[in-house]
Amino acid sequence: MAVTARASRTRVGIVGAGPAGLLLSHLLGLHGIESVVVENRSRAYCEARQRAGLLEAGTVELLRSVGLGKRLDAEGMEHGGIYLQFEGERHHLDFRSLTDGRWVTIYAQTEIVKDLIAARLAAGGVIEFSASDVAVSEIESDRPVLSYVDSSGVSHQVSCDVIAGCDGFHGICRPLIPDTSVYERTYPYAWLGILADAAPSTDELIYSRHSDGFALYSMRSPQVSRLYLQVAPDEPLDRWPDERIWAELQRRFAIDGWSVNEGRITDKSVTPMRSFVAGPMRYGRLFLAGDAAHIVPPTGAKGLNLALTDVVLLATALRAALLGGSWDLADAYSDTCLARVWRATHFSWWMTSMLHVAPGDPFESQLQLSQLRYVTSSRAAATSLAENYSGYKPLRFEATDQA
Ligand code: FAD
Ligand code: PHB
Repeated sequence: MAVTARASRTRVGIVGAGPAGLLLSHLLGLHGIESVVVENRSRAYCEARQRAGLLEAGTVELLRSVGLGKRLDAEGMEHGGIYLQFEGERHHLDFRSLTDGRWVTIYAQTEIVKDLIAARLAAGGVIEFSASDVAVSEIESDRPVLSYVDSSGVSHQVSCDVIAGCDGFHGICRPLIPDTSVYERTYPYAWLGILADAAPSTDELIYSRHSDGFALYSMRSPQVSRLYLQVAPDEPLDRWPDERIWAELQRRFAIDGWSVNEGRITDKSVTPMRSFVAGPMRYGRLFLAGDAAHIVPPTGAKGLNLALTDVVLLATALRAALLGGSWDLADAYSDTCLARVWRATHFSWWMTSMLHVAPGDPFESQLQLSQLRYVTSSRAAATSLAENYSGYKPLRFEATDQA
């Protein structure tokens, strides 16, 4: 027996409850624009998925300005620089003195997602977790449709003014845009990432190029470390028992009189490295934001920051279109985003290429070491890295007066 879908209406249908989809719903809410977020994973899964940790100052200021700064200010860890390590020596890059006082903040993506979900639910926002058969149609009309089956098996068809595809790299929205131009680079390595109950033995992040491969020392709190190792792209996790991971980390970060603090490993995963840009980011009434349209390798720590920047631009464009009747910003949305995306794509590719070991390529190794010596000895080169790493011109979010 055919079951009729339950019909409803909203202004913006949002696919995906990652940082992009949730922040978009929050910003639209501040403008008084109703939205529905549809997510195919459970709330618990979304809140626990280990991903980014480093926020540009502009991202921190944005989150503060839209009422999401409370826990971020209490628990975030402000860093004024990073360490670059190679050939057994560790060099500090002091962003504050290299630039006009710039800094970055460590605050996990899991915590941003928790803060956003709590804020949306407190404001009466709709987030449908654990949805299935999520589909988008009629994007060439002015009433695109978001359809899904909710967690209790009821089918829904939501008639929208606009649909935002914030459904990440493997989502369903990007393939709906015809004739996209795709620019892609896959790298011959991946990151094995761990989360460990171990107090970090460093005050700031360490990016280490070792002849056995790259390693990154990051953190989540004064008690929890986040560490990454360069591995082969198809590396099976079961080849990495905890003892092997710690031994490899100790080797790749080794300097005299110092060691990595070890502890219980609570999460382990392998992430492939990819640069990917698809454009345009809009077709008809469908707009893409975040990883749905572009991916950068995590070496530059840009993916989350870019995703949130897209969303500020999109919320501003949708306010002008849906409340003011002007589609000019919406028409410019894709080009405006992609200019920033390409800057970050270049920086992330450059950091990745400088720090990861290309096995069997001694020419490449010499170029990398030469570049690392340059970045750690030339103030101009160090300043360029610090400016790119700590972030581009922040975007301001302007709340709507009548909201
Ligand atoms: P996602 O987080 O991928 O969210 C997409 C959502 O859509 C998900 O919840 C997914 O379940 C949902 N979805 C997918 N398909 C469907 C469907 N069909 N229907 C409904 N829902 C769907 N970035 C930084 O800025 N700084 C860092 O330090 C950093 N470190 C990183 C470290 C690692 C190891 C990795 C992997 C990434 C890192 N990033 C970093 C990148 C950052 O995590 C991503 O750029 C960010 O998650 C993008 O957010 P998003 O909302 O666009 O996409
Ligand atoms: C992280 O803390 O997860 C992190 C930090 C910096 C990066 C990548 C990941 O470049």
